[in-house]
Amino acid sequence: GGIPDAGPLRGEPIVPVVVLHDADDAHPLADALVAGGIRCAEITLRTAAGIDAIRALRDRGDILVGAGTVVDPDQVDAVVEAGAAFAVSPGFDADVVDRCAERGLPIVPGVATASDIQAALRRGLRYLKLFPAGLVGGLAAVRAFAGPFPDVRFLPSGGVSAANAAEYLADPAVFAVSGSWMVPADALRAGDWDAVERLSRAAQT
Ligand code: 3PG
Repeated sequence: GGIPDAGPLRGEPIVPVVVLHDADDAHPLADALVAGGIRCAEITLRTAAGIDAIRALRDRGDILVGAGTVVDPDQVDAVVEAGAAFAVSPGFDADVVDRCAERGLPIVPGVATASDIQAALRRGLRYLKLFPAGLVGGLAAVRAFAGPFPDVRFLPSGGVSAANAAEYLADPAVFAVSGSWMVPADALRAGDWDAVERLSRAAQT
């Protein structure tokens, strides 16, 4: 057995953290991300539209769609049924991780401490979201954790921006970065897909 850790996310360097208020926005949003060169999206369950947005995008072949803010084992079942390709959690919850293992859903749990990392490693997970990355020390935290945990690969999130994404990605302990800087709340609310496309393209330079 074992958990398919990070799974398909390992091939995607930039993961947008998306908060949608209307599932009808899912396709225009995905079009804008793809046009800007981003091929994955973490659709959060922070809004009721999240699950429907995941379901709406499940059969698009051009973007890998997962669920974010998965904090309860029952949400794991819901996102699997909606077609999510991966799950991300803000923190480490063994029940959520175990349900993902049962359902075969790749999970990237959040960690902020050495204890969290040990709990994840014990469950066989080494691709971990560092959250909130900026507040726990940014790149200095990545480097400090890489000492005792050389096999761990991090997804820093929280405070990542166009200004520091490349610096994070250059660190060998970082497998990808995530955040909302290319999908800002005001642009999503306004349906400003041109802004999402432009910020997505800029995120990669
Ligand atoms: C997350 O869930 O990873 C964060 O909401 C992203 O943080 P950011 O808004 O600072 O990018």
